[in-house]
Amino acid sequence: MEDGVEEKTEDKIIVKDVSKLKKEPNMKDYDEACASFSEDTYKKEIEFFDDGTLNAAYNAVDRHLKTPLKDKTALVWIGDDSEKTFTYKELAEESNRFANVLAKHGVQRGERVFLFLPRVPELYISFLGGMKFGAVVGTLFAAFGPSAILDRVGNAEASVLVTSPELKPRIDEIRDQMPALKHIIVTGDYEPGDGELSFDKEMASVGPDFDIVHMPPKERAYMLYTSGTTGKPKGVIHSHYDILHQHLTAKWILDLHEDDVYWCTADPGWVTGIAYGILGPWSNGVTSIVDGRRFDPENWYKVIHDHKVSVWYTAPTAIRMMMREGPELAKKYDLSSLRFLASVGEPLNPEAVWWSLENIGLPFHDNFWQTETGGILIANYASMDIKPGSMGKPFPGITAAIVDKDGNEKPVGKAGDLAIRPGWPSLMIEIWKNKEKFDEYFRNGWYITGDKARVDEDGYFWFIGRADDVINTSGHRVGPFEIESALIEHPAVAEAGVIGKPDELRGEIIKAFITLQKGYDPSDDLMEDIKKFIKKRLAGHAYPKEIEVRDSLPKTRSGKIMRRVLKAQELGEDIGDTSTLEDD
Ligand code: PRX
Repeated sequence: MEDGVEEKTEDKIIVKDVSKLKKEPNMKDYDEACASFSEDTYKKEIEFFDDGTLNAAYNAVDRHLKTPLKDKTALVWIGDDSEKTFTYKELAEESNRFANVLAKHGVQRGERVFLFLPRVPELYISFLGGMKFGAVVGTLFAAFGPSAILDRVGNAEASVLVTSPELKPRIDEIRDQMPALKHIIVTGDYEPGDGELSFDKEMASVGPDFDIVHMPPKERAYMLYTSGTTGKPKGVIHSHYDILHQHLTAKWILDLHEDDVYWCTADPGWVTGIAYGILGPWSNGVTSIVDGRRFDPENWYKVIHDHKVSVWYTAPTAIRMMMREGPELAKKYDLSSLRFLASVGEPLNPEAVWWSLENIGLPFHDNFWQTETGGILIANYASMDIKPGSMGKPFPGITAAIVDKDGNEKPVGKAGDLAIRPGWPSLMIEIWKNKEKFDEYFRNGWYITGDKARVDEDGYFWFIGRADDVINTSGHRVGPFEIESALIEHPAVAEAGVIGKPDELRGEIIKAFITLQKGYDPSDDLMEDIKKFIKKRLAGHAYPKEIEVRDSLPKTRSGKIMRRVLKAQELGEDIGDTSTLEDD
């Protein structure tokens, strides 16, 4: 067991003794940090330009060029059969080149530049370069299929898309439906066709200096599409001001010190891969690992062993995958470089925390946040006792509460909507072209997360579940509507209702209930064909692992399919008095 962590089993608390931790935490005392917190606590960590503007990418990378960090390795990239490293200076110069490429092709500040790439160095370089240029950078998970891409890039009216030769065919299928798209930039050894540019050739054609654009704090910086319970995914817009919260949370929650080798397993197609895979960690001057390969527990241990990773930020499904492999695999590798472990994205079961304490010698620190919040809001801290199963306490300066449907606070111990008082720097600034949707997030002066939780007498928050039908599979947030819409495009499917079904490894798996068009039989071949159809259109992680054919689906009086009835039936729960089912 780690020095400084004392197990207290009777009331299931992991007690921390700060004086015995491997390294003194950046935030030594939670209560004191809360008491002395102000906007200045954020501001003094960040460099603003003289005119009060800032640039998040400048803060993450370029401001370090005035310090000895300049020649330090910022990025270690691990590919299938090669590795590459970039110093802070190299990262600054390469991203400057990308900004110059945008300028060369007449791209304007505020235009959307989308990145559809696997975890390759070009992704990180283009992200930073796009931000330096003042574009709005959007990222897309490489598992997305053509329909999922169209829903996002089409809606954002992106003018530039950066992709790889392997992924480009998915763009070709939908290109004619994206009239705003002017430039497709393709990485690697690639001979560009009509309307396409070669990433490498373009980068070689411009210089490594660029006048980083000064951005008013609340100007658009990056965007991510995320799913709610109805409609297509929505474009969540974030500003350059996010960096204030991302920097300080990376410092105080992930406890990043300049000499850390840090590894965030998340893909920048998701918010964790941006906030804590790019901006927060580099702003803190660490060496960051990017593993571009497929997820695999043995590879994870190897990466930690080979690169002497000291801080690791991952997700519960990954931890459960390691647990499934058994402690023997963990014991094969030297993991003694690890100093701090954190987890996000889905409920972290207490067993996983105890397992890591026993087999890795350190507990995982659960924390909670969302695409919309731009950074961690509730966390377990290096210096604070852990109650395994709890998400921890609000970050200093953040007010969290449990509220009822009118936005009134509920007493300690009662379940309700998890709400946060708006005002922290990284809260989204808008939903792309959808003010109504943006406004729906706010109730009685609170930002409503869409999650149910409770708070205990010590101020620890406990996650209960989503308040809506959003599915969380392996930490990926998936909207049922998107899958249902795709399902009914299959010629055999008449109607579809999609739910998250509890799963030991993945938290939830996607289960679809369908009715068939006349003339189709529910054969195994047909089910396979439907799964493939969804995988190709939407994404590898969004296809229903289970499909059940029904003669009819439960509906409201106006004909809307009732997912919550399907879910209750699946879980064998009482569905209540269906005669009173109202249209919702
Ligand atoms: O339901 C909550 C769950 O993930 C949702 C946010 O998903 P996304 O926007 O994709 O961002 C994920 C990474 C920041 C939340 O509304 N979630 C996130 N963290 C936790 C969690 N559920 C339980 N415990 C957590 N620690």
